[in-house]
Amino acid sequence: MSSWRAISSWICDVAEYEAHIPVLLNEWVDALVVDPDGRYVDATFGRGGHSRAILARLSSAGRLLALDRDPEACHAGGQLAGQDARFHMVHRPFAELAEAVAEAGWTHVTGVGFDLGVSSPQVDDAARGFSFQKTGPLDMRMNPQAGQPLSQLLQKVSEKELAGIIRQFGGERFAGRIARAIVQAVHEKQMQTTADLENVCFHAVSRSARHGSTHPATRTFQALRMWVNDELGQIREGLEAAMRVLVRPGGRLAVISFHSGEDRLVRDVIEQAVSPCTCPPQFPMCVCGRVPTMRWVHKKPVRPSEEEVARNPRSRSSRLRVAEAVA
Ligand SMILES: C[S@@+](CC[C@H](N)C(=O)[O-])C[C@H]1O[C@@H](n2cnc3c(N)ncnc32)[C@H](O)[C@@H]1O
Repeated sequence: MSSWRAISSWICDVAEYEAHIPVLLNEWVDALVVDPDGRYVDATFGRGGHSRAILARLSSAGRLLALDRDPEACHAGGQLAGQDARFHMVHRPFAELAEAVAEAGWTHVTGVGFDLGVSSPQVDDAARGFSFQKTGPLDMRMNPQAGQPLSQLLQKVSEKELAGIIRQFGGERFAGRIARAIVQAVHEKQMQTTADLENVCFHAVSRSARHGSTHPATRTFQALRMWVNDELGQIREGLEAAMRVLVRPGGRLAVISFHSGEDRLVRDVIEQAVSPCTCPPQFPMCVCGRVPTMRWVHKKPVRPSEEEVARNPRSRSSRLRVAEAVA
């Protein structure tokens, strides 16, 4: 067993019983909750660490609606709803956030928060197929009741398309070699579990990359997860929906991301609402008529403190961006 594999299996055993540790919790809730009587949406409930922090700031008049596309997260949210009448849980992808708000009968929202990516319980459950550290099915769906598992998608994808996915979403420099090896393993019926996928990634990269500081399967697993769940498409639609429901000036949008591609998309989608004018820069005045609907509160992303990174290494790559509605 390689040193990487021995360490991975040890980390997994330790992490198995850990719950999700919320990231940038105080920074996120400080930025989001501007009115204790307000109406808030937590678009990514997970295990509710961020939702509970919002509820702790709300008065008895305040309300919180939470969404998650994962049925297990929704089950946990349902238990919280049974304990706190101010809280309501909905099983929906956040691209459908505006519909969820309308169904709740809300005409405005005071703040919408996102904490993107996967939760620790999702990664730690081998049966979900997110982890290269435990053997499980090739699934990776955040909502196992919808869409197609990775195993089905791999049956149909071409080598070229797969290489593009691994390169674009994972930033993997061995994307071509890994894609070729995956397609061949699928063809030979040697691609049944996450362990098979991990093994193929491990052997497809160069010898030196096999023993680097990042496991050779990390970027490929991340890329395939983003593909299976259309994560970038969801982020774009979710942010656009969030900005549509922030109809009152001062309404807040707070977004935590963990991946540079996600963060760039968050920045660009919000920037589109902050600076929507399409007039050429040499025009003396705006003639396109597009006016800003948002302004940056934190354009430069907020990063976790050294203390938080030491306490929770998963927070290392997190970034928080905050904007507020101006019209
Ligand atoms: C990082 S976790 C959130 C953790 C949460 N803030 C907590 O403190 O427990 C991300 C959650 O977002 C959910 N999620 C990811 N993409 C989603 C989407 N498009 N729609 C709804 N939920 C989504 C995942 O299922 C996961 O439960």
